[in-house]
Amino acid sequence: MEAFLEEAGRRVDAALDSLLPPAQAEPRLLHEAVRYSVFAGGKRFRPALVLASAEACGLDPETVLPVACAVEAVHTYSLIHDDLPSMDNADWRRGWPTCHVRYGEAIAVLAGDALHDMAFEWILAAGDRLGPPERVLRVALDLATALGTGGMVGGQVLDLLAERGVVPAEWVPEIHRRKTGCLIRACARVGPLLSGREDELACLTAYGEHLGLAFQITDDVLDVVGEQEKLGKRTGSDQAASKVTFPRVFGLERAREMAREQAQAAVAAIAPLGPRGQLLAELARFVVERDR
Ligand code: IPE
Ligand code: IPE
Ligand code: MG
Ligand code: MG
Ligand code: MG
Repeated sequence: MEAFLEEAGRRVDAALDSLLPPAQAEPRLLHEAVRYSVFAGGKRFRPALVLASAEACGLDPETVLPVACAVEAVHTYSLIHDDLPSMDNADWRRGWPTCHVRYGEAIAVLAGDALHDMAFEWILAAGDRLGPPERVLRVALDLATALGTGGMVGGQVLDLLAERGVVPAEWVPEIHRRKTGCLIRACARVGPLLSGREDELACLTAYGEHLGLAFQITDDVLDVVGEQEKLGKRTGSDQAASKVTFPRVFGLERAREMAREQAQAAVAAIAPLGPRGQLLAELARFVVERDR
């Protein structure tokens, strides 16, 4: 799994480097900030999932690289905004000072905006190199929906409201499903959507839903038990901010168990894929066993 993630990361980083405007292009400050956050590090889990989903559906992973880059771009945008003083107020990310600490808040907001816009530009510009137009549009629609008020952005709002006690702690599965799960679900759906294997959309959707929840529960657990150096971000920040998390609501051990249950459910969901689902199954195990 480590080897697969490393190889996927290399391919995605090379593609991102050619898609992103050069740091010397004006406005330099913006392009520097964008590249700073994108290339600070990161596991590249979401683009790797796009590649694995594509491969499971018989597509050449090379052709879906623009989509893989797009999901990493929107993910990085979500991290930059998540770290802002008005949100999680984090000063450390991917082993470096956060974007707003390094470049100021205005540039950080705009770097996030730019990454969001470029993601859709890359998908739509790739056009028929990705597949028939109606399939490409479906992927773009899927991603926009995953990021919107019913998905990531809505989840981030609920996360902040829960921290202030406006939304009850019992909503934590819904918060996590939206703020993190929806994007991961969209990544898992790229293969069936682009290949036209509609019969496999339901099982990869279910896989993505369980995987997304497992991912955020594990993120919560790592905030309690993980190592700052490996994670590249501060630990203990959820408790300090009174965040509503799985360990807080269910206890640390039960939260760990729930993450494992979700990963198992993800693996079970792709049983119909047979051996084609092996890489996806390994990714699910990685999600709950990771220490970074
Ligand atoms: C962190 O995501 C934020 C969440 C949605 C949990 P990752 O753990 O994938 O962060 P990077 O991309 O590796 O930095
Ligand atoms: C972030 O969740 C979810 C996003 C949509 C970015 P967290 O706030 O728990 O992510 P970290 O722990 O800061 O990476
Ligand atoms: Mg947050
Ligand atoms: Mg955060
Ligand atoms: Mg977290």
